[in-house]
Amino acid sequence: MSYSIAVDGPAGAGKSTIARKIAGQLGCIYVDTGAMYRAMALYLIQNGVNAGDARAISQKCQEADISIRYENGEQIVLLDGENVNGLIRTEEVGNMASASSPNPAVRKKLVSLQQKLAKTSDVIMDGRDIGTCVLPDATVKIYLTASSRVRAMRRYEELKAKGEDCDFETIEADIEKRDHQDMTRENSPLRQAEDAVLVDSSGLDIDGVVAEIIRICREKGIGA
Ligand code: DC
Repeated sequence: MSYSIAVDGPAGAGKSTIARKIAGQLGCIYVDTGAMYRAMALYLIQNGVNAGDARAISQKCQEADISIRYENGEQIVLLDGENVNGLIRTEEVGNMASASSPNPAVRKKLVSLQQKLAKTSDVIMDGRDIGTCVLPDATVKIYLTASSRVRAMRRYEELKAKGEDCDFETIEADIEKRDHQDMTRENSPLRQAEDAVLVDSSGLDIDGVVAEIIRICREKGIGA
């Protein structure tokens, strides 16, 4: 049986960590759609596009050559054939991704790439609109969330561990602002699909969330 698993939820809920682990356990491909929006953002930055210029974003995004390759199970995002995984995790790229991802031309191009990937392999795909738009017929849909306080604490610990100077209240305010943007945007807002299962990771560790989602997948005949 071929299958697809959609995982949506707000920033910092643990989607990518959990989806990667589940892909390893089930032997399917993990598709990180946020990385594609980030690669597009990098392209726009490299081409001098202003984050507030919707027309320029719509035009320039058509020229971006974004593709995906897998090496030892790891997703490599290619921009004009070059591996950009090491360049897309900066604040600058994240902010441009947040500004450009609501653009309909950007979404049309990347959603089509995501749908093609899901046709060629069994996938677990994470993002904001996977269960609602990209894979409306996904075998399993998960809406993974956690309270903003817990998500801010995880981010705070992560930055602290990297030795970065950070302030908890600022991080929590940023997370709440990003949630609001993602949930109220006109195009493909973040929301739980009607047939998605809600998983709240606030009181669970990573392995606990993975076990819960694997259990939900088994109920649907995946990995049984
Ligand atoms: O999950 P992330 O932080 O890597 O996502 C980067 C940006 O892309 C973020 O602003 C949300 C947006 N995004 C989106 O609009 N749709 C998706 N399917 C995935 C990410």
